[in-house]
Amino acid sequence: MATADGTWRYRERFGESFGRTYFRRFPPGVCSSLGIGTYLGEPTAAVDDQYRSALQSALNYGINHIDTAVNYRCQRSERVVGEVLSTTDIDREQLVVSTKGGFVPFDTTRPDDPGRYVRKQFVEPGLVDTDSLVRGSHSLDPNFIEAMIDQSLDNLGVETIDCYYLHNPETQLLAVEADELYDQLEVVFERLERRRAAGDIGVYGLATWQAFRVEASHQQYLSLPDILSRAQAAAETVGAAETHGLQVIQLPFNVEMADAFTVTAQPTTDEPVSILEYAHDSELSVVTSASLGQGGLAEAIPSAVDAELSGDTAAQRAVNFARSAPGVTCSLVGMKSLEHVAENIAAGTFDPLGASAFDTIFE
Ligand SMILES: NC(=O)c1ccc[n+]([C@@H]2O[C@H](COP(=O)([O-])OP(=O)(O)OC[C@H]3O[C@@H](n4cnc5c(N)ncnc54)[C@H](OP(=O)(O)O)[C@@H]3O)[C@@H](O)[C@H]2O)c1
Repeated sequence: MATADGTWRYRERFGESFGRTYFRRFPPGVCSSLGIGTYLGEPTAAVDDQYRSALQSALNYGINHIDTAVNYRCQRSERVVGEVLSTTDIDREQLVVSTKGGFVPFDTTRPDDPGRYVRKQFVEPGLVDTDSLVRGSHSLDPNFIEAMIDQSLDNLGVETIDCYYLHNPETQLLAVEADELYDQLEVVFERLERRRAAGDIGVYGLATWQAFRVEASHQQYLSLPDILSRAQAAAETVGAAETHGLQVIQLPFNVEMADAFTVTAQPTTDEPVSILEYAHDSELSVVTSASLGQGGLAEAIPSAVDAELSGDTAAQRAVNFARSAPGVTCSLVGMKSLEHVAENIAAGTFDPLGASAFDTIFE
């Protein structure tokens, strides 16, 4: 598993070659503020080969944070990450490995009849309760989540998943009321606390798409204070030795989707604040997804913003926008191409914008 000593050793290999705060605090040590994502791409051997090379290069040249999910590319992304972890010369202790569970995964290829596949593989063996299945593909049934943790440990070939996310938990809000979801989350958090105590996961979190960037009136809104109190209750129920393990959130954030900074929908005793501010005040790590707008921002960034950002290319400036937002720990970029890995890592040689320079972008 990632350790404080190991991740600091990774940082030290790069001396002063990166800009200010390229490496940042992430439990239990530090991680690069650029992470490699593995979501996009077809479930084919050719794309596996691309990800294998990209991951190897990323680890060698300054990225020690890998993000995946059990369902990405029919489990192929997790398995490629596992292969790279088993062949790299870099110690496991230096690398942060994050994955997610919540969507029912296919195995290697997409089945001809996904509904039948889900029934045969998950519902009939009792792995997923039909009542918990939303849109035929998403469940937070605690038994299912635990089975997915086991599957990810196996696919990744690791003893510990450093950061385990519940994947898009707000999907459940399409079928249940918020109070019911918070109750359900507390039960799942108890399981995650137990898996944490057993050493199967380091910390846990929520990887979201809508929940943390929408207004409180939105059907898929989640309140971070409510979630943290449920995590605390879960830790107390299982008699966890320390504070609860919900220490990371993931959300989309980029030049064109800056809601995590601009939407103030998280309640405090005073005025509501943005999710980035609430997470920062709660000492959570924040990881951004879709940092390049799924590739679109590498072509062009709105010119008023572009002028404020540092970087030699549009992709670098877009990466540096996401890495510069106050409260952001790590920005994930999906990368299969070696050229993109090199270009994006070079973004880290520029200093991020300071908080006040970031604010002026929105004035
Ligand atoms: N809800 C969730 O939990 C959630 C949702 C979305 C994403 N994520 C995570 O966040 C990660 C990042 O998001 P994403 O992959 O969806 O989108 P992204 O990082 O915004 O964009 C990835 C796309 O950008 C391209 N790209 C990367 N660097 C480039 C460069 N320098 N120049 C031109 N194009 C470049 C990639 O091409 P190549 O692949 O060809 O290099 C890929 O097509 C995902 O991989 C996943 O791990 C989580």
